[in-house]
Amino acid sequence: MSALEPVKVGVLGLGTVGCGTANILSRNADEIARRAGRGIEISIASMRDTKKQRACDTSSITLTEDSNKVVTDPDVEIVLELIGGTDEAKDLVLKAIEHGKHVVTANKALIALHGNEIFQRAQEKGVTVAFEAAVAGGIPIIKAIREGLSANAIQWLAGIINGTGNFILTEMRDKGRDFDDVLKEAQQLGYAEADPTFDVEGIDAAHKLTILASIAFGVPLQFEKVYTEGITELTRDDVAYAAELGYRIKHLGIAKRTTKGLELRVHPTLIPHRRLLANVDGVMNAVVVKADALGPSLYYGAGAGAEPTGSAVVADLVDVVRALTSDPENRVPHLAFQPGALSDIPILSMDDVSTAYYLRIHVQDRAGVLADVTQIFADHTISIEAIIQKEPQANISIVPIVILTHEVSEQNMNQAIDEIEKLEAVTNKVMRIRLETLS
Ligand code: NAP
Ligand code: HSE
Repeated sequence: MSALEPVKVGVLGLGTVGCGTANILSRNADEIARRAGRGIEISIASMRDTKKQRACDTSSITLTEDSNKVVTDPDVEIVLELIGGTDEAKDLVLKAIEHGKHVVTANKALIALHGNEIFQRAQEKGVTVAFEAAVAGGIPIIKAIREGLSANAIQWLAGIINGTGNFILTEMRDKGRDFDDVLKEAQQLGYAEADPTFDVEGIDAAHKLTILASIAFGVPLQFEKVYTEGITELTRDDVAYAAELGYRIKHLGIAKRTTKGLELRVHPTLIPHRRLLANVDGVMNAVVVKADALGPSLYYGAGAGAEPTGSAVVADLVDVVRALTSDPENRVPHLAFQPGALSDIPILSMDDVSTAYYLRIHVQDRAGVLADVTQIFADHTISIEAIIQKEPQANISIVPIVILTHEVSEQNMNQAIDEIEKLEAVTNKVMRIRLETLS
C-alpha cells in the first residue's frame, strides 16, 4: 500500500446518497484504498441542519451549514455534490472547479441542464467532473458506454431509468396498490426526487436520457429537446389489456439514431412480455444498448437507494483518485467523445418519429361505430395489427375498444386520433401508448 496521505473529500449534502456513500467508504475502507492506491476520507460535509440525526457516523467529519467552506477548503481535493437541485448546486460546483477541486456528483438535473458549461470549465481548469451515479443509480452504465463500448457505433438504447416510476408500476400491477400509496413508500425508501413529480412525469428519466444520448452519440447535452411523457395517466385497465395482448407497459427512455437524426423520447411503452426489459421490476433499472460490433447488451441493477447510488459515487471517487497525477489532456473525456469532436446531428421532433401504437377508445355500444373508427385508420394509411372489443360493464352502454397498430408516423396518428375523438359515438379522450418490439 502507498504511504501517501489519504485523499481528503468534502461532501455537499449528507442525506440519502451522502450517508450511503459515507457508510461504504468507512465499511470498505481497506478494499477501496487497495484499489485506489490511497485511502479516501471525508473530512468536511455541509448540510442544511447540522443538528439533524444522520444515517451515518459523522464523528470524524467537520459538519457545517456553510457549503462555501467545503468547496474552498484547501485540504479538500475532491468535492462530492449530493445536495440536488440546479441553482445552488451549479454555483457550488463551479466554485469548487475554480478552486481546482475535482467533483463527483449524482445530480442528473445539474448535468443535463448545465453539463456543457460545467465540463468546459472543468476542462479549462484541468479537473474532472464525474457523474456515474447520475444515471441508473448503481449500474455502471456511464462507464460501460463511455469506455467499454468505445469501439462501437451505437444504434439505439432503451432503458428503465427511473426506479421510483418502475416501483410504482410494478406494485400497481402485482398488488393492485394505489398510485399515491406506492409513491409515498418510494419517498420513505429514499428513491424519489425532492420533487417527486420529476419521477412520475418523466423529467428525471429525461435528464438521464439526455446524458446517455450524449455519451452514446457524441452530441452536446440537449435536455430541452427530449420528448417527455409521464406515467400518471396509465390505468390498471391498460396494464391488463396490454397483458392480454402479450405486452407489459414500462416507462422507457429511448434514444435512437436514424438517417434523419436522433430520436430522444421518454414515455410509457408497450414491450413484448418475453423481453428481458419487460421483466425488470420494482426499483431495478435496466438499459439495453444496441451497438454495431457487440450487438445488444443489457445492464441491470438497483436504480436508486442509499448504498446502490453510493456504490457509483465511490467508484467515481476511486477513478478520480487513480487519475490525480495523470495528465488532464489524457483523461477519459467527460462526454466520451473529445470536446472538439461533438456532432451536431439534429434531434428529431416527435412528428418525425414512427412507432406502433396501443389505443384504447371508449365508444357507445352500437352498430357502425367500429366501421367509422377503422375508416379513419384507412384514410390515414394506418394498418391494424390486433383489435379487441371488451364487454360493456353492467348497465353501461359504453365499451372500450383496444387496438394495436403497425408502425405509423406520429403525425399521421395525431391526425387520426383527432378525427376519432370528434366522432359522436366516442365518449372519452383516446388513450394512446407507443409500442416498441426492441428487436
Ligand atoms: P436528500 O436525501 O434530500 O439529501 C440532500 C442533502 O443535501 C441533505 O443532507 C440536505 O441537508 C442537504 N442540502 C440540501 N440543500 C442544501 C443546501 N442548500 N446547502 C447545504 N446542504 C443542503 O437527497 P438524496 O436522495 O441524497 O439526493 C441527492 C442527489 O442525488 C440528488 O441530485 C438526487 O437526484 C441524486 N440521486 C439520488 C438517488 C437516490 O436514490 N436518492 C439516486 C441517484 C441520484 P439536510 O439533511 O440538513 O436537510
Ligand atoms: N429518483 C430517482 C429514481 C433516483 O427514482 O430513479 C435515482 O436517480
